[in-house]
Amino acid sequence: MKILKTEDRVKGSKKAFFEFQNAYEKGAKVFGLATGSTPIELYRELRESRMDFSNLISINLDEYVGLDGKDKQSYRTFMYEQLFCAKPFKESFVPNGKASDLVVETKRYDEILQKYPIDLQILGIGNNGHIGFNEPGTSFSSMTHIVKLTDSTIQANQHFFEKQEDVPTMAISMGIKSITDAKKILLLAWGEAKADAIKAMIEGEMTEEVPASVLQRHSDVVVIVDDAAGSKL
Ligand code: GLP
Repeated sequence: MKILKTEDRVKGSKKAFFEFQNAYEKGAKVFGLATGSTPIELYRELRESRMDFSNLISINLDEYVGLDGKDKQSYRTFMYEQLFCAKPFKESFVPNGKASDLVVETKRYDEILQKYPIDLQILGIGNNGHIGFNEPGTSFSSMTHIVKLTDSTIQANQHFFEKQEDVPTMAISMGIKSITDAKKILLLAWGEAKADAIKAMIEGEMTEEVPASVLQRHSDVVVIVDDAAGSKL
């Protein structure tokens, strides 16, 4: 793992932008994208860049179960507002949280991932070490699956919703195996709330109890943290 420490999220996002641009210039065709507050500045940089994604593919990590792609809180809408509105891809995949058969939807997503292997995967990290929506205890060999969100994740994501009761309790997420199949991984973390998770991911034991620790065995991972998130390293 290559660890890059920066002063704050703005500088960190600039570094992330250069990593992204570098992959793009080297010919990456499929980008795995993440939601949450962490990649927002990176997406702003991408919106303002000269890069053209109209021949490329994007595949998002996850989506809440029960939210339509048009729902204001859905990750599909988030991606549209943060990136796709200004920089459309040729095709952008986000799991369908309203699929009538969620198991069929997970299989459909795995087929997409097989057809379009991810060149660069962007990741944030949950306070409890989750990646995508893979909560502690998820098998390292998991493919796309249905997840019951932990209270910690529901609370952490509450700020995107009016009240806690509005946060969906289930999600569809790419699995840990689907994520680590990406050729290159770029994980970003800002703020003190991520410091324990970052320490456990990098310096702790590799264990399914800390989903992000699986990245220790991936051969091409870049981690960008600000001083606060890296303060316990
Ligand atoms: C959610 C997303 C993750 C994200 C995490 C951290 O649970 N499913 O992909 O990394 O939140 O969110 P934030 O970036 O808002 O701290």
